Amino acid sequence: MSKKITAAITAVGGFVPEDRLTNFDLEKMVDTNDEWIRTRTGVEERRILKGEGKATSDLVVPAVRELCNKRGIDPSEIECLIVGTVTPDMVFPATANIVCDKLGARNAWSFDVSAACSGFLYTLTLGASLIESGRYKKVVVCGADKMSSIIDYSDRATCIIFGDGAGAVLLEPNEDGYGVLDSILRSDGNGCQYLHMKAGGSARPASIETVMAKEHYVYQEGQAVFKFAVKGMADVSAELLEKNNLTGNDIAWLVPHQANLRIIDATASRMGLSKEKVMINIQKYGNTTAGTLPLCLWDWEKQLKKGDNLVLSAFGGGFTWGATWVKWAY
Ligand code: UT7
Repeated sequence: MSKKITAAITAVGGFVPEDRLTNFDLEKMVDTNDEWIRTRTGVEERRILKGEGKATSDLVVPAVRELCNKRGIDPSEIECLIVGTVTPDMVFPATANIVCDKLGARNAWSFDVSAACSGFLYTLTLGASLIESGRYKKVVVCGADKMSSIIDYSDRATCIIFGDGAGAVLLEPNEDGYGVLDSILRSDGNGCQYLHMKAGGSARPASIETVMAKEHYVYQEGQAVFKFAVKGMADVSAELLEKNNLTGNDIAWLVPHQANLRIIDATASRMGLSKEKVMINIQKYGNTTAGTLPLCLWDWEKQLKKGDNLVLSAFGGGFTWGATWVKWAY
């Protein structure tokens, strides 16, 4: 009997732009201070993609190039490429299409997934299903956002959190039980009222009025989102452990969405994990939305060992949230 095929992560790539926006820079732009930002969120600086016409695809392309180089494959070998993002280069075509063109990934079909901060978890589960079906051998899933393109830098409640960045992983078939092993994903459109962008979609197309009313920026009711996020991320992560008969002792790493250090702490403590097992890079990059989880894998790749159990967990706009169990393959 043939063995079960799982989708192993076989390479990781990441990219953050050079330009840094520190808490001290923000002190000069809005009524805030480094101490407030650090203690309330954990962020110290974020990266900003500058340059005329530079877009989310410019963050994704170097990340995918890096993983191709690491794995020794040519982009033309990629069969499917999925980008999780809420800051696509354009409303259409998909950023993934543009990425494939820039990379020369001419044999891939490609599309975007809109799941905000859970974008990478959604694309990872989707990509893994394609591999598990037996039909595909090389699928690239990416999480990327140029949040600076939709942030109002006069709104101190949002501009302190977000940054730009991208990460990507290559998924390949595995018959030894490594890779994406389980996932619980959720969504609740009722959360839209607390976190959204008011204009630019078909409900409220761009007009002089929408621009004047600053409706092309992130609208967030921070406190409400915080409450849902703490519960959502912690509950689903604990549920994933229970469903798979795992405890905190079995987990080598929690890979949490980097929205707020306090949300990360609550999730880790609910899972019974000590601080050393939690990937935290929010201080350097802020919240890169769909970019946070693959950027953690990128930063920690060298410390990961074959067989390590990872739980990736996220909560964000939609609302969308979830947790995924990955057994590291290399
Ligand atoms: O990734 C997508 C999902 N998003 C999230 O998970 C974000 C969840 N929310 C949060 O992380 C937090 O709600 C924020 C970081 C956005 C805000 O932190 P908070 O502890 O919830 O602050 P708050 O909105 O309750 O405001 C507390 C106080 C207020 O002053 P008063 O009314 O108590 O006098 C705010 O006006 O802090 C004030 N404040 C600030 N002060 C200095 C709000 N923003 C700032 C600021 N600097 N940047």
